[in-house]
Amino acid sequence: MKDQNKETKLHSGEIRKLQSSASTRGMTRRSAIGLLGSGGLALMTGVAAVAAGQVAQAGRGRNPQQITALVFDAYGTLFDVFLPVFNRAKEIYGPTYNDLLYETLIQVWRLKQLEYSWLRTLIREYRDFYSCTISSLDFALRSVGIDPDDDPAKRDALASRYLTLDAYPEALEVLTTLKSRGFKLAILSNGSRDMLQQVVVANNMQNVLDEWISVDEVGVFKPDPKVYPLAERELRVPRKQILFVSSNSFDVLGAKNYGLTTAWIRRGGTLPQVATPTPSAIAPSTLFGILRGRQEFQEETTLLPDYVVLPPSATPTEGLRGLLTLPPLEV
Ligand code: LAC
Repeated sequence: MKDQNKETKLHSGEIRKLQSSASTRGMTRRSAIGLLGSGGLALMTGVAAVAAGQVAQAGRGRNPQQITALVFDAYGTLFDVFLPVFNRAKEIYGPTYNDLLYETLIQVWRLKQLEYSWLRTLIREYRDFYSCTISSLDFALRSVGIDPDDDPAKRDALASRYLTLDAYPEALEVLTTLKSRGFKLAILSNGSRDMLQQVVVANNMQNVLDEWISVDEVGVFKPDPKVYPLAERELRVPRKQILFVSSNSFDVLGAKNYGLTTAWIRRGGTLPQVATPTPSAIAPSTLFGILRGRQEFQEETTLLPDYVVLPPSATPTEGLRGLLTLPPLEV
């Protein structure tokens, strides 16, 4: 019950830290958690603004966690898993299909990729993340009426875009700033060793990161508790000094479950909203946000992220920049 008695706090109007009791802010614990889980950036920003003054005082001049290392999730946190493959799918399969189909394809792909990683972990049949990436792409293609066996070269071309995904626009600059502040920096990812090597080099991050660690080392996927000790082991930094950073809520939960301090990056959508056929239809990216963009275990109070990091501007792709004003990371 290590994280009970929490409350919603905020630093600089953008970052909320969860500590002590929500009820002292005139808000029940359940409603505070509900706000976290609402998934709406506008709503969260609005809540943040209400609490800003209170937190600025509480956080200043302290580094209670004595963080010395930051460990980042890769896919969806540093690297954009949507826009590059959306554009590549359109190039490969052409104008026969419309944007709505391509958006469905890439959202189902990501959902299934994660589901397959969990299935493989549960049935104890590990194959690396590229294998999950290929199988889930086949599933997604079939789900939108494209048979991958009709043209395997097209399928392979789309899958290989995953190896050199673009980093989010702010990622390298934020990493470089954190490095200059003296923090050790690493990736801990489901990605195979080979996938991580390629995507790190493609984005010129090899000189700013100390390590890029793959779950290949333990043969299970996140959020299995065997994964997160790899961060301590490979960086030789005790867990209480590590801030784990992820936009994937299930990953934040896994890291918190292991005992790392966690920051949940809220990016919001990264694709322009594709028009849906009728006003009441839900766009695939909206459905993805509903399923994966919300706080896991909303009703629980034990595995909340320590920090929720909102984009400092209205641009959702600026999500990591909010880390730079997080109290334990300020110089
Ligand atoms: C990763 C998955 C969670 O990079 O996206 O580990």
